[in-house]
Amino acid sequence: MSNLAVLGLQWGDEGKGKLIDLAAEHYDIVVRCQGGNNAGHTVQIGDKVYKLSLVPSGILWPGKTAVVGNGVVINPAAMLDEIDSLRRTGVRVESNLLISNRAHVVFPYHPLLERSSEATPGKRRIGTTSRGIGPCYEDKVARRGIRVAELLSRDHFTKRFRVIAEERGAVARALGISEPWDSEGALEEYLECAERLRPFVTDTAKYLNDSIKQGKRLLFEGAQATMLDIDFGTYPYLTSSNASAGGLCTGSGVSPRLLHDIVGVAKAYATRVGEGPFATELHGPAGDALRDAGGEFGTVTGRPRRCGWFDIPLLRYAHAINHLSSLFITKLDVLDYLTTIPVCTGYRLRGAPLDWMPAIAEEYEEVEAVYEDLPGWNCPTRGVTSFDSLPQAAKDYIAFLEDRLEVEIGGVSTGPEREQTIVRDGSVLERVASTRSC
Ligand code: GDP
Ligand code: IMO
Ligand code: MG
Repeated sequence: MSNLAVLGLQWGDEGKGKLIDLAAEHYDIVVRCQGGNNAGHTVQIGDKVYKLSLVPSGILWPGKTAVVGNGVVINPAAMLDEIDSLRRTGVRVESNLLISNRAHVVFPYHPLLERSSEATPGKRRIGTTSRGIGPCYEDKVARRGIRVAELLSRDHFTKRFRVIAEERGAVARALGISEPWDSEGALEEYLECAERLRPFVTDTAKYLNDSIKQGKRLLFEGAQATMLDIDFGTYPYLTSSNASAGGLCTGSGVSPRLLHDIVGVAKAYATRVGEGPFATELHGPAGDALRDAGGEFGTVTGRPRRCGWFDIPLLRYAHAINHLSSLFITKLDVLDYLTTIPVCTGYRLRGAPLDWMPAIAEEYEEVEAVYEDLPGWNCPTRGVTSFDSLPQAAKDYIAFLEDRLEVEIGGVSTGPEREQTIVRDGSVLERVASTRSC
């Protein structure tokens, strides 16, 4: 029995969806542990493109169970829309989807308060996805949030919702938010959604622990990424949950002793959506060229992603925080057009070398990236499926990253489709691919 986690290491959108889909074949259960519908995970199977936000990507494999854990925040209408749209494309979503009774619920006042906070003059704007994710987690930590189990208890929910909605309404008025919202209308809407969600809801922590006892294998689907993690990312320019390894356990109820392998996903370069420091960011035509080559536009919001070079100090930090078993490098094919590829190999802060991430965003803004230029391969790698078939300069690029990061690069992605993947001999990913689910 061995469980696997797939985590993003940069600022999200590394291609986690693709790797989770590939790995899911070999697991029984795929679990999401944090985040909400701020996530957008793309899975491409032939000419079909699926974009998943709340439902774990494992749902696409027949015979697998997809679990939305207690650490996730759920907008019921968004969850139901996603279920409906998956069903329209022929994906079965019945008893193969389980939703935690302990997960917290996103309410209409969450995005409203978030928009107001983002627009407050003089306040640091985060550039959020505007889905109300941050305010929902705020309520959870402030112990005034409402869980899915409560939503399903009609009388209890009605009472609690009215009290909290009134209190949040008073906060909104005090903040000068003029946008009206109809709390009785919302109450009705949420009660209707509750009935449609009811068949999926269970105590997923119990389900997961019972399944482990029966010898089932779990795949943990990370959302967001280490540099967006509430504790270890570029605070405050990050999301409101623990997107690094620690969040997998608190968000699922599965002990750290049962997490066996952790595979990190990183692009062969770097991107970020929203505000915040980005040491290797490219401005001007070079950044535009990378964005065009990589199709770097947000999966959830469609915003252009900021683009830059691969950042070794950042990846070394993410490796330390997550203690990776292996690394999966995506979008190698995007670099095909380059004759030279700069890679950030070190940081300097006010003239001195820096070997760890600063804790303050303003200090990180000041960091100077030190580069080494590597030769590009300047020929197509799209769709290559064996390491030996890559051009020598591409092999050297991967070997350089592996050497500097001191972690196995177990796989390389050369296109968005399942088959456009290299799994290296003897790697953790090869071991995963050679084992069977129950
Ligand atoms: P996630 O949030 O980490 O799951 O990543 P997203 O789905 O938001 O963004 C990754 C994008 O890159 C998606 O459009 C994928 O289809 C695409 N993609 C993944 N791997 C590759 C690759 O190796 N090459 C190319 N060109 N595109 C890829
Ligand atoms: P996946 O799982 C990329 C970013 C937002 C913003 C910050 C806070 O697809 O990798 P939030 O709405 O979470 O409060 O926004 O975090 N962000 C992501 N960026 N990929 C994601 O998810 C993201 N989820 C949140 O752009 O900068
Ligand atoms: Mg994404």
